[in-house]
Amino acid sequence: MFKKLLCAFFGMGLAFSAAAADVIADMHAEMSGCETCHADGAPSEDGEYEAAQCADCHGSLADMEGSHAPHDGMLVCTDCHMVHEQEVGQRPTCDNCHDDGRTGN
Ligand code: HEC
Ligand code: HEC
Ligand code: HEC
Ligand code: HEC
Repeated sequence: MFKKLLCAFFGMGLAFSAAAADVIADMHAEMSGCETCHADGAPSEDGEYEAAQCADCHGSLADMEGSHAPHDGMLVCTDCHMVHEQEVGQRPTCDNCHDDGRTGN
């Protein structure tokens, strides 16, 4: 399941350090263009195709550590990661949905 992720990762070690202030989607587009996430480079109506691409490379929420596993079955990646807005290294916040001051790991 993680083979695709490993290949992409080793292929982009250099591109990465140069892309520190990139928007997350642009950083990903350095791997295989817009098709890294979108079929034919254009967004789907319901986001399901994109969600399947995230899971293909990163695994599902249940497989992931930190703030991820508690949301298994409740959220999709893009509820927290606005990939066309947030920059690489920018952490999603919790207070859109929880009002008790919690933060990620
Ligand atoms: C990391 C995966 C990823 C990559 C790479 C990516 N997108 Fe997206 N894109 C998304 C997701 C997910 C959405 C759904 C809305 C959102 O969360 O921003 C989206 C939404 C869009 C939209 C709808 C308008 C909007 O901003 O919501 C357009 C247009 C779009 N993408 C174009 C592109 C183009 C053009 C590229 C290549 C330069 C690209 N995307 C690369 C994941 C990606
Ligand atoms: C509840 C909000 C939330 C959701 C949903 C979410 N993330 Fe995250 N993500 C975070 C936070 C916060 C961090 C910073 C580290 C932490 O707290 O776990 C993070 C970090 C990451 C990182 C950086 C490496 C790491 O683990 O620290 C990746 C990659 C990532 N998320 C991918 C995903 C993918 C793929 C999905 C969907 C399967 C997803 N995230 C869903 C909040 C979320
Ligand atoms: C082709 C494989 C691939 C796809 C598809 C993919 N990613 Fe990634 N993603 C990576 C790699 C490689 C990295 C860099 C290493 C890491 O942080 O795991 C990364 C990094 C990230 C990060 C961390 C950014 C930071 O701040 O360091 C987030 C968040 C993330 N991806 C979310 C997503 C989401 C959401 C989707 C689906 C919309 C997605 N990814 C689709 C391969 C992919
Ligand atoms: C898009 C909305 C959303 C965001 C953003 C979000 N959560 Fe959640 N979270 C939920 C929902 C929905 C549940 C399940 C219902 C509940 O228990 O409140 C949940 C449940 C949880 C749980 C398990 C139950 C509990 O309340 O302890 C933890 C832990 C958690 N979230 C931590 C976080 C952290 C940490 C962040 C920020 C990194 C975060 N969440 C961001 C929607 C969100």
